[in-house]
Amino acid sequence: MPAENNPFEIGIQYQQRRLAYANQRRDECIAKLDKWLLESREVDNFTYDLHELNVAYLSSFVSVAVGVEVSAIEGYISELQNNFTLKEHIRRTISSSQYRWIADAEPRYGRRLGWYAIVRATKPKVIVETGIDKGLGSCVLATALMENAREGYPGRYYGVDINPQAGMLFAPPYSAVGQLVFRDAIAFLQTFDGPIDLHINDSDHSEDYEAREYETVRPKLTDAAVIIGDNAHCNDKLRQFAKATSRQFLFFQENPKDHMYPGAGIGVAFRHSSRESSPVSPSVQSLNIKTDSTIL
Ligand SMILES: C[S@@+](CC[C@H](N)C(=O)[O-])C[C@H]1O[C@@H](n2cnc3c(N)ncnc32)[C@H](O)[C@@H]1O
Repeated sequence: MPAENNPFEIGIQYQQRRLAYANQRRDECIAKLDKWLLESREVDNFTYDLHELNVAYLSSFVSVAVGVEVSAIEGYISELQNNFTLKEHIRRTISSSQYRWIADAEPRYGRRLGWYAIVRATKPKVIVETGIDKGLGSCVLATALMENAREGYPGRYYGVDINPQAGMLFAPPYSAVGQLVFRDAIAFLQTFDGPIDLHINDSDHSEDYEAREYETVRPKLTDAAVIIGDNAHCNDKLRQFAKATSRQFLFFQENPKDHMYPGAGIGVAFRHSSRESSPVSPSVQSLNIKTDSTIL
């Protein structure tokens, strides 16, 4: 029997192709891990840029979630990418901090580009972010609020973290539009009067905690509030919350560029039809916030 008709020979050839493919993928993974080991100092909450196509998909995702033209969303994303003042602030603060051995000074926003565009597009009066870490998200959100304020739409940012060391990046001028609170996120939310226009869950990522955080924040959300889940690539708690509260849900998956991490994502719960008729948040000055330890 000629070799090309021999099922055994054909099987061997297919196995060789499979082996070559596996070896190629293994080499690519090892190259990314080596690069990360050599060039990064981060131990968690990894930062990276996204592939250009992924950023384009992120623009379309945000456009659908907030009901704003995709060209406007692309403009907001470019605005953050071209904000050299914020980039310089991040580089300078991390390079001179005691955490410089476990943090990268190069600013890389990943999915936070989407957070920025959501704030710019929806003009929230009150943003709550649970889980601050170094304060990269805090600065991104504060920058968006500062741009909104320049356009006549002021808002205030509240960041909460259980770690009193969190938030080193959240310094002037960014801290002028918000404040950090150091306590358990759910305990904070129980005392927070709201109403909240944008809630970002990025604290304790156990499923149970995340679900309880959404239940706690539920009565404080405006009708048109946007809720972002930073752990939606791991569980469906935000999707369940969206379903239970008659909100829509979408998920965006990151595709990191040149990085060993496979990417997280943005889960977003939202309502469109009611945005026009949503209750208006009180002015930011009139919010009553009760906390144990607050820094301004
Ligand atoms: C992934 S990091 C947050 C990253 C941040 N949002 C950013 O944009 O870079 C998670 C943070 O949640 C905080 N955290 C964990 N459990 C918490 C809790 N029960 N209440 C408040 N913060 C908590 C951790 O201290 C950590 O700083």
